[in-house]
Amino acid sequence: MKVTYFGHACFQVEIGETKLLFDPFISPNELAKEIDIKAIMPDYILISHGHEDHIFDAEAIAKQAGATLISNFEITSWFNKKGVTKTHPMNHGGSWNFDFGKVKYVNAVHSSSLPDGSYGGNPGGFVVESKEGNFYYAGDTALTFDMKLIPRFTNLNFAILPIGDNFTMDVDEAVIASDFIDCKQIVGMHYDTFGFIEINHNEAKEKFSKKEKELLLLKIGQTQDIK
Ligand code: NI
Ligand code: MN
Repeated sequence: MKVTYFGHACFQVEIGETKLLFDPFISPNELAKEIDIKAIMPDYILISHGHEDHIFDAEAIAKQAGATLISNFEITSWFNKKGVTKTHPMNHGGSWNFDFGKVKYVNAVHSSSLPDGSYGGNPGGFVVESKEGNFYYAGDTALTFDMKLIPRFTNLNFAILPIGDNFTMDVDEAVIASDFIDCKQIVGMHYDTFGFIEINHNEAKEKFSKKEKELLLLKIGQTQDIK
């Protein structure tokens, strides 16, 4: 699967011809100022939770691309009111078969208010299974034993985990999470964007390589084929 990083927690994953965009927060991100959001045309937008640093560009991109927005019921309803007509509501523990594969909305330990103060339901993550492979997009979360459930139903090729600390788990806990989910290939997210979450890249990669795992830290705008 081709994985493109747009900064912070925003990734596009291509499964065949289908583009899935996760948690678009690009235009306010100084580190991502080279990225032109008008050129991003996903088929689906998956939103883990309601915080602004995960949804800022979702409305604009959903409208320009005619994308279907997938999130929990509270968040899809909030976007419906903003004129995003194509949405698919889910809730924790539920799965749905889309044309690109199966999505399960799984637990995250975090919070999820929307920017205007509306209730955003509980935060989540996504497990995506497809013909090209399976991956877990954790969203913002603490380390949690709930992650141990994932390998009971899915063999993961890779996982996108937060590593920035302060708002989410840190690198050491992400190493433990990679054990819980039984996955050797981890893509880091939710680091460096703000002062609170700056990390030492080499130190982080070494912590994974010591456990014979790989931490990929993609450059913003970079696309990598991950199998
Ligand atoms: Ni958050
Ligand atoms: Mn966040």
